Amino acid sequence: MFFGFLLWPSTTQTLPYDDEQQALDEQITIKISHVVAQNTPKGLAAQHFANLVEQKSNGHIDVQVFANAVLYNDETELAALQHNDVQMIMPTVSKMTTEVPAWAVLDIPYLFHDAQHVERFFTSEEAQQLLAMSSVDNVIPRAFWANGFKHFLSELPITKIDDFQQQYVRIMDSHILKEQFTLLDATPITLAFQDIFSNAKAQTYTIQENTFSNIASKNIDGFQPYVTVSAHGLLSYVVLINEDFYTQLPPDVQQIIDEALHETTAWHFAQSAQLNKQAYATLQQRAEISTLSDIEKRRFQQRMAPIYEAYANTHYKQIIDTFAQ
Ligand code: SIN
Repeated sequence: MFFGFLLWPSTTQTLPYDDEQQALDEQITIKISHVVAQNTPKGLAAQHFANLVEQKSNGHIDVQVFANAVLYNDETELAALQHNDVQMIMPTVSKMTTEVPAWAVLDIPYLFHDAQHVERFFTSEEAQQLLAMSSVDNVIPRAFWANGFKHFLSELPITKIDDFQQQYVRIMDSHILKEQFTLLDATPITLAFQDIFSNAKAQTYTIQENTFSNIASKNIDGFQPYVTVSAHGLLSYVVLINEDFYTQLPPDVQQIIDEALHETTAWHFAQSAQLNKQAYATLQQRAEISTLSDIEKRRFQQRMAPIYEAYANTHYKQIIDTFAQ
């Protein structure tokens, strides 16, 4: 028998013994909920993981991926995970920094130099230690994934950092992101991902930061047509699994999940870069694209001094810096 017993309480059924029911009894379902489109770095990585698990288990583990916040959104997905209504989610690290303050280090502007720097750190033993800093109830953090670098999207062109003055900027719920825009004399507004389109349309905010893939897949450039390439911050994810669910799985099932996660983490870096490249090409057709000049980047970094000072000597900031070499 491939798996010892059925572990998924909500589908447990008491059936009379019947050979033909064996497969039903052995089936394990993993529901994954996320908030972005399928054709995005997170959407494709979640699906890749699902395919690997199904292949490795010969179909005995059924992984169902629910995209676009159809099941749960930014505000509800963590509680749904803790209650085992879904078994896995992969929120942005920024949105988890209230629960796990140590992870805020990943929100520091211009922390990562390039995609290779991100990959070197995210696949390191030290990243595993940072991951383990979570003590969120009934949740095991399993991997960091990266979408890519964030850039600015705006209703009016941004050519210098003074252009942020008195503007409303949509942010994810993170104190560093809040401080980043406050330091630019703008007003940060925390909005869940599912609300950014309607609020861009309603002009509740006029600037946001996001990756090319999230901007293009949400069609927000229809309202905010100016893209300023800045690569000033990383949009990263943390893959979370329900602890009770995972720890009660037989070792062979855990091993399949672990292997599939490991392989997906290794696979997704190139995939994310490719999707953001494609999204950039799409935006070239639809939006006005410019690049933040080196002088303005330096001015931006100078303005972020209070954030750098607060984090300069923190353990993980120093470790991440060492991976830049
Ligand atoms: C995501 O990529 O999961 C959403 C990012 C955002 O809220 O901007």
